[in-house]
Amino acid sequence: MGFYSQLVSHFALLIIPILIRFLSFHVESFTPNIITDKEALISFKSQLSNDPPHPLSSWDQNSSPCNWTGVFCNNLHDKRVVALNLSGLGLSGHISAYIGNISFLHSLQLQNNQLTGVIPDQIGNLFRLRVLNMSSNRIEGILPSTITYLTELHVLDLSSNNIISRIPRDIDLLTKLQVLKLGKNNVYGTIPPSLGNISTLTNISFGTNTLSGKIPIDLGRLTNLVELDLTINNLTGTVPPSLYNLSSLINFALAANDLWGEFPEDVGDRLPKLLVFNMCFNRFTGRIPGSLHNLTNIRVIRMAHNLLNGTVPPGLGNLPFLQMYNIGFNKIVSSGDRGLEFLNALTNSTRLHLLAIDGNQLEGVIPEKIGNLSKVLSILYMGQNKIYGTIPASIGQLSGLRLLNLSFNSISGGIPSELGKLQELQELNLAGNQISGSIPKSSSSLRKLIRIDLSGNEISGKIPVSFGNFENLLSMDLSNNKLKGTIPKEILHLSTLSSALNLSRNFLSGSLPDEIGRLVSVTTMDFSDNHFSGKLPSSIKYCLSLENLFLARNMFSGSIPQILAQVRGLVNLDLSSNNFSGIIPVELRNLKALQFLNLSYNDLEEKFPVVGFSRIFLLSI
Ligand SMILES: *[C@@H]1O[C@H](CO)[C@@H](O)[C@H](O)[C@H]1NC(C)=O
Ligand SMILES: *[C@@H]1O[C@H](CO)[C@@H](O)[C@H](O)[C@H]1NC(C)=O
Ligand SMILES: *[C@@H]1O[C@H](CO)[C@@H](O)[C@H](O)[C@H]1NC(C)=O
Ligand SMILES: *[C@@H]1O[C@H](CO)[C@@H](O)[C@H](O)[C@H]1NC(C)=O
Ligand SMILES: *[C@@H]1O[C@H](CO)[C@@H](O)[C@H](O)[C@H]1NC(C)=O
Ligand SMILES: *[C@@H]1O[C@H](CO)[C@@H](O)[C@H](O)[C@H]1NC(C)=O
Ligand SMILES: *[C@@H]1O[C@H](CO)[C@@H](O)[C@H](O)[C@H]1NC(C)=O
Ligand SMILES: *[C@@H]1O[C@H](CO)[C@@H](O)[C@H](O)[C@H]1NC(C)=O
Ligand SMILES: *[C@@H]1O[C@H](CO)[C@@H](O)[C@H](O)[C@H]1NC(C)=O
Ligand SMILES: *[C@@H]1O[C@H](CO)[C@@H](O)[C@H](O)[C@H]1NC(C)=O
Ligand SMILES: *[C@@H]1O[C@H](CO)[C@@H](O)[C@H](O)[C@H]1NC(C)=O
Ligand SMILES: *[C@@H]1O[C@H](CO)[C@@H](O)[C@H](O)[C@H]1NC(C)=O
Repeated sequence: MGFYSQLVSHFALLIIPILIRFLSFHVESFTPNIITDKEALISFKSQLSNDPPHPLSSWDQNSSPCNWTGVFCNNLHDKRVVALNLSGLGLSGHISAYIGNISFLHSLQLQNNQLTGVIPDQIGNLFRLRVLNMSSNRIEGILPSTITYLTELHVLDLSSNNIISRIPRDIDLLTKLQVLKLGKNNVYGTIPPSLGNISTLTNISFGTNTLSGKIPIDLGRLTNLVELDLTINNLTGTVPPSLYNLSSLINFALAANDLWGEFPEDVGDRLPKLLVFNMCFNRFTGRIPGSLHNLTNIRVIRMAHNLLNGTVPPGLGNLPFLQMYNIGFNKIVSSGDRGLEFLNALTNSTRLHLLAIDGNQLEGVIPEKIGNLSKVLSILYMGQNKIYGTIPASIGQLSGLRLLNLSFNSISGGIPSELGKLQELQELNLAGNQISGSIPKSSSSLRKLIRIDLSGNEISGKIPVSFGNFENLLSMDLSNNKLKGTIPKEILHLSTLSSALNLSRNFLSGSLPDEIGRLVSVTTMDFSDNHFSGKLPSSIKYCLSLENLFLARNMFSGSIPQILAQVRGLVNLDLSSNNFSGIIPVELRNLKALQFLNLSYNDLEEKFPVVGFSRIFLLSI
């Protein structure tokens, strides 16, 4: 070994440890490393509320963060934190600005917690971030402008928070973005046209915000788009024709805005992959595009509450996967006895669970084949049309039905006893038809009924005792029929009845059973326009939720029980046109909520206990 090499090696022995110390000093102080990550995470934790058991109890100073709950490191020699998944851990508190120090982070998942406060500007330092999911928290404030520094972002999901913000104009700096979800916030302003520059976008979901203005034409350049959900906003104008060129679209949902114009007749040909077409609650005109019925895979067609006219186009038999078909509240027409036979084709849709054709001008007879519709059909709206003829017995085969609404048509004939087979039925509405005959006994098996409305028909016979079986009933309306007999005690055992019991405008007689006091939750009782007699039972005092009591135009007698004053919530009380006698109880003065009191046309002593009122007929107190 020569002199020089000895010198070098001696020098090296001397200098290398110094160098190492010098370098490592620099590394620790100036270059972020796992220690930086650890400190940032500890700071992050410190901003969270720490009610025990703390979901992040494994995060302690004395261990490596790579072993902590939800923390993921890379496998390199110089380990760094690359992913945080703290989804659904029940975290509350703020997001620390120190999050911006975890510079190797490429995935940050904080969704499904109760985080509050704003998104810190320092989020913009996480330039490696590919996935940012903070959905379902209570994050407030604006979207920081620094979000556009995250040029590697593929997924940005901030849905279901309280963000009050515009969408940054320069959102197109996020050139790799695929999924952008801002739904269920208070995002306002217009949709930036620059979104159309992010050609990688596949999913845009802005539903349930207050976005306004027009849908930018530029979105028509997003040829990879599979989902465009702009439902429940304040968007206006027409749908840019360019959107019908987005042939990859699977979910196209613009419902509940202020959009107008016509759908192209060939929408189904141009958007051949559509599974969801949801255009409800707008002002669309023109016809239902027949080409939609050519989309053999489509799941959801919803166009309710628009101004569509014309007939239902053919082709409904082509849709085996259809789950929802809703064209309610438009101006769709059909004519003649066979006007509803388009429904027959839907028997091919064995997964159909919602069918709504209500609020149109559909004329015709309900086809017998209605019973061959899907076994999973649970919601059937056919009300407010011009349907006539009888209810086919085959309806009893729709064993999955939870809601049946045939109201406000011209349906006649009896209620088929087969209706009793609908054991899942929760809501039955046959109001406003010309249905006659008595209520079939079989109806007693509708154990799950929550609402029944048979009002405005020509139903005769008695109220079946078995109506007392409806253990979940919230409201019953049998008004304006030709029912006779007394009120069965049993129907007054329905303690769930919390909305209305309306038996008015029938030929019911007898006295009100004492059991009336069991209706502790009912808010409206209407027995007016019948032939009821006898005294008002004092048990009425137990009806403590009662707000409206209408007994007018009957033959009730006796005195007005002072106990009525204990029904503190009474707002409307109409006892007019009966045979009540005696004095008006002074206690009625205690009914502080009372707004309407009608005691006229009785045999009451003409003295009213409230100063200033000499007549008994009062419209206010
Ligand atoms: C993580 O924990 C395991 C055992 O619990 C231990 O063997 C390992 O050394 C820890 N790793 C680090 C990086 O602390
Ligand atoms: C994140 O954590 C949640 C809950 O533990 C888990 O369900 C989910 O699969 C995780 N996601 C990722 C991308 O690791
Ligand atoms: C860490 O974050 C804090 C808060 O944003 C900042 O003040 C600090 O400079 C950062 N430290 C490093 C090493 O980046
Ligand atoms: C964000 O997290 C939620 C809840 O886990 C999940 O449903 C959603 O799909 C995630 N977003 C994206 C874009 O992956
Ligand atoms: C981005 O989009 C806007 C509006 O559509 C356009 O004016 C602009 O030229 C686009 N920028 C780039 C880089 O494509
Ligand atoms: C994107 O939209 C498609 C079609 O609706 C859907 O299947 C997919 O789950 C969505 N992706 C994300 C990440 O939300
Ligand atoms: C929606 O737009 C209309 C008309 O542009 C406006 O009057 C209304 O205040 C807006 N509503 C919301 C919730 O922004
Ligand atoms: C839709 O695409 C066709 C064919 O590429 C093109 O001719 C037409 O101009 C496009 N329409 C719109 C409105 O972008
Ligand atoms: C249907 O609506 C369109 C556009 O509103 C109108 O031009 C047409 O006359 C209407 N057709 C019928 C049959 O009412
Ligand atoms: C439905 O598809 C058939 C066969 O491709 C075609 O002949 C017909 O014109 C289409 N109907 C509509 C309304 O687009
Ligand atoms: C139901 O589907 C079958 C087989 O695809 C078809 O032959 C039939 O015409 C369809 N029925 C109706 C009513 O369209
Ligand atoms: C329709 O239902 C009837 C029973 O009413 C049954 O006999 C018939 O086979 C069903 N038709 C189809 C196509 O399922």
